[in-house]
Amino acid sequence: MAGSENIVWHKTTVTRADREARSGHRGAVVWFTGLSGSGKSTLANRVEAELFKKGIRTYLLDGDNIRSGLNHDLGFTDADRKENIRRISEVAALFVDSNAVVLTAFISPFTSERRAAREKVSEDEFFEIYVKCPLDVCEARDPKGLYRKARDGEIEAFTGISSPYEEPPAPELVVDTSEETLDQSTARVIALLEKNKIIGA
Ligand code: ADX
Repeated sequence: MAGSENIVWHKTTVTRADREARSGHRGAVVWFTGLSGSGKSTLANRVEAELFKKGIRTYLLDGDNIRSGLNHDLGFTDADRKENIRRISEVAALFVDSNAVVLTAFISPFTSERRAAREKVSEDEFFEIYVKCPLDVCEARDPKGLYRKARDGEIEAFTGISSPYEEPPAPELVVDTSEETLDQSTARVIALLEKNKIIGA
């Protein structure tokens, strides 16, 4: 690949094992995917707060925040969404190496890019959470008024309206935010991390 020749990975003196021994927990990616307005950011934010209370080293990467900085050059074409997720996947893997439980809240509409994100880390440290919510419910919530604009033709390629969302075929967890409460969904995500020994019970 252009620019990546003559590059040799530099091994660091401080290792993952050193970091894990100090923190007492493992690093992991908790990847929230779903439609705009499905509740990804709300749930990820709440899970992070619960983990933080437990003394876990955490970080939250959120679509709108990352798009205002690192990815401010990207829009919403398929190619830009793929590049958005590719960069996030790399950043998330670095956070795992730093021993953080990194939570990502991006629509991430394509199965292939979510799979690529998974492949950046070990199989047992990637948790795909499908934040499921019917389109009509997301549209009724319309927290940012974007569905209205998309229906009025003011926004092109809006996910669920004029741009596709591929449902995850085999996520580690499905939470339906139109049926369960935020407390219930949060508890289920934490339980998943405990069961898989990322954090202690
Ligand atoms: S992704 O498709 O590339 O994963 P990402 O999660 O980063 O999307 O950004 C989605 C957020 O950008 C939405 O929550 C919404 O606030 C905003 N947004 C603006 N335009 C669009 C659009 N055309 N489609 C979807 N979301 C959009």
